[in-house]
Amino acid sequence: MHSFKGNRVVRDTGSTYPIFQSPMSWIARSRLVSAVSAAGAMGVMETSAGFPTVQEEYDAIRARTDRPFAINIAIKFIKDRPEVEKAVLDWALDGRIKFMTTSAGDPRRHVQRIKDSGVTVYHQVASLDGALKAEDAGVDGLVVEGGESGGVRGPDSVHSLALLQAVRERVDLPIVAAGGVVDGRGMAAAFALGAEGVAMGTRFVCSAESPVHENYKLGIVGAASNGSLAVPMGERAVIRVLRTGLSEAIARRDPDAPTAESSLDALYVAGRLDTALGSAGESAGLIRAIKPVAEIVDDTVAGFWREIERLSRLLDPRRSAGEAVRA
Ligand SMILES: Cc1cc2nc3c(=O)[nH]c(=O)nc-3n(C[C@H](O)[C@H](O)[C@H](O)COP(=O)(O)O)c2cc1C
Repeated sequence: MHSFKGNRVVRDTGSTYPIFQSPMSWIARSRLVSAVSAAGAMGVMETSAGFPTVQEEYDAIRARTDRPFAINIAIKFIKDRPEVEKAVLDWALDGRIKFMTTSAGDPRRHVQRIKDSGVTVYHQVASLDGALKAEDAGVDGLVVEGGESGGVRGPDSVHSLALLQAVRERVDLPIVAAGGVVDGRGMAAAFALGAEGVAMGTRFVCSAESPVHENYKLGIVGAASNGSLAVPMGERAVIRVLRTGLSEAIARRDPDAPTAESSLDALYVAGRLDTALGSAGESAGLIRAIKPVAEIVDDTVAGFWREIERLSRLLDPRRSAGEAVRA
């Protein structure tokens, strides 16, 4: 029987498996987070809406599962609302959770206070420079997002294959790999590159418990291998979204491209993939079906150990290397 005993991510989170569901505005709320945590992985609850939503969502998760879950603070998105920032932080650090993640911003803003409260914190970074700064700031671990990830990032981001190795070479903290992972094969690959855990965003958007409209999930299921693309978002960022007529027109800066509608109202709720952008990673091209969260988690864990066993057969001199690789 294989186990993750000794894995630092499992030690820090208290979850059974070193698998995170990524924080995603509006999506990473009670229904999805509780399903992920109940399945033995780490649900991560987003807090961008402030009160009363965060309290309601927290209570709803607790009513559904007693397994550990995390609270995420998207630093940049709440720092312009100081009263929300203070209220959410005071609330999150009043003893209700043991593990937090921070993302989108400078972790120095909160890390000392979080650690002084006895809470373990991993910070989400998208570059080697960001990883080194986060380590200096004193975070306990990193979520390292490659350029293939769904959602917003810098225009010159490095993809996971090189980025994870670059960070592992310089940083000793536990690494959770985000971007391009949908199953055990991707998880095993991330571990080979130096990660001790994985985070999945797009895969969980396309789960039965995800609150988004079915058209969005079917857009992910139908995505080709090159079914995502990065479109400009302001001057200094891009957002990786599903490839559609609209996203292609915006990406090529077509002057006749219509302005995308709000993703929350038009897509998540109303299912309009033709008028709004749907964040999704390159991982969308690997997703074949809408599945229940428990099945995603169980399949990922089983597939991970299957891949590790397959690769370990390379050590057996009685088998040819090719045989083990193809098994
Ligand atoms: C629909 C969607 C919404 C996202 N929203 C956020 C967000 O609000 N905050 C954040 O830090 N990351 C966000 N992300 C990025 C994820 O945290 C994660 O890094 C990414 O999904 C990993 O790549 P994957 O989609 O290939 O699994 C979002 C991703 C997706 C797909």
